[in-house]
Amino acid sequence: MKLNFLPNFSKFFAEDMAIDLGTANSVVYVQGRGIVIFEPSVVAVNQKTGQILAVGEEAKKMVGRTPSHITAVRPMRHGVISDFEVTEQMFRYFIEKARKKRFLFNMRPRVIVGVPVGVTEVEKKAVIDAGRSAGAREVFLIEEPMASAIGIRLPVQEAQGSFVVDLGGGTTEIAVISLGGIVLGKSLRVAGDKLCEDIMQFVQEEYKLLIGERMAENIKIGIGLAYSSEGKNDNKAATAGNKKDKVIKRDFKMRGRNLVTGLPEEIVISEDEIRRAIEKSVRQIVNEIKMAIEETPPELIADIMHNGIYLCGGGSQLRGLDELIAKETRMPVKTVEDPKTSVVRGAGMVLENLDQLKEVLIETKELEPPK
Ligand SMILES: Nc1ncnc2c1ncn2[C@@H]1O[C@H](COP(=O)(O)OP(=O)(O)OP(=O)(O)O)[C@@H](O)[C@H]1O
Ligand SMILES: [Mg+2]
Repeated sequence: MKLNFLPNFSKFFAEDMAIDLGTANSVVYVQGRGIVIFEPSVVAVNQKTGQILAVGEEAKKMVGRTPSHITAVRPMRHGVISDFEVTEQMFRYFIEKARKKRFLFNMRPRVIVGVPVGVTEVEKKAVIDAGRSAGAREVFLIEEPMASAIGIRLPVQEAQGSFVVDLGGGTTEIAVISLGGIVLGKSLRVAGDKLCEDIMQFVQEEYKLLIGERMAENIKIGIGLAYSSEGKNDNKAATAGNKKDKVIKRDFKMRGRNLVTGLPEEIVISEDEIRRAIEKSVRQIVNEIKMAIEETPPELIADIMHNGIYLCGGGSQLRGLDELIAKETRMPVKTVEDPKTSVVRGAGMVLENLDQLKEVLIETKELEPPK
């Protein structure tokens, strides 16, 4: 006979967590408490000693304001661990910060972690190992688009097709979900970071101006545009002050260093220029979505035509992206509320409803729902 004492006991002393260690942002959900952490996935490392000086918000603040031997490391690349030791430290920091020390001793938590669709066995093992050595009692994995779909309350367990695109910092994940599983999943290493790189490259080529990653991201968030229904607005001179335009165009004052003179310079760039700068990458994303649609079984396509394509992840906030995808796929496209937390909200819902939802986890062998 199985004793129920242990699960009760563990629920009382351990607070299980859901963690989305994203390329750009890390988000932590604690059972019964909701989202308690949202911080950048950045670690400040002293390169001379290898010592970790700060993690998250604190580390991001230090960037560019510290001696050169202190660097900001982003240990996740394209949604997977690229620097194991630094990831483990970051993992530990988030687990420790999220835990409420209510008792003299606390049991180590069980943790559900979001991973990109189609990660290799080696990559999965790296996440499990990093989580365990960071203080988790057990680590379970969930594919990020599945978590997102649950987070935005799509009927993932029904015999009905749900189509989710999660455009993050490092990867764009595309998934068709039905009956609690991913029928078709794709992960493209073109997402928010790549768009920033495109902007940096464009500015360097067109204006001989060197700008930093943060400036490029500010430009993207400020005036980034995937598609303009005005269409043929390729006029380089179009700026906010141009009265001939029916729609007021946005522009952005960017600061950087002129590569020829070596001196700081301020240049105004328009949204049309940014649209052109990121066009190729945006097209790659749209093409991948179209390919996923082509590969989807016809019954599910009928559902998706009715329900629409759901866009989540921070990158989905790029202006005009929903319109462009709708035009290219001829499907309704829906953006979601709070797109950067859908993965962790979904993984959190799995934690809270393990009985009904544990089939959606990748690793379920050892997992018993708390009594
Ligand atoms: N308004 C906006 N317009 C365009 N992009 C945006 C906007 N706001 C945030 N982003 C981008 O969203 C990305 C971060 O999104 P998110 O937090 O979902 O990524 P992540 O989960 O950390 O990454 P991944 O899932 O790839 O590991 C960044 O590239 C950021 O620049
Ligand atoms: Mg993500």
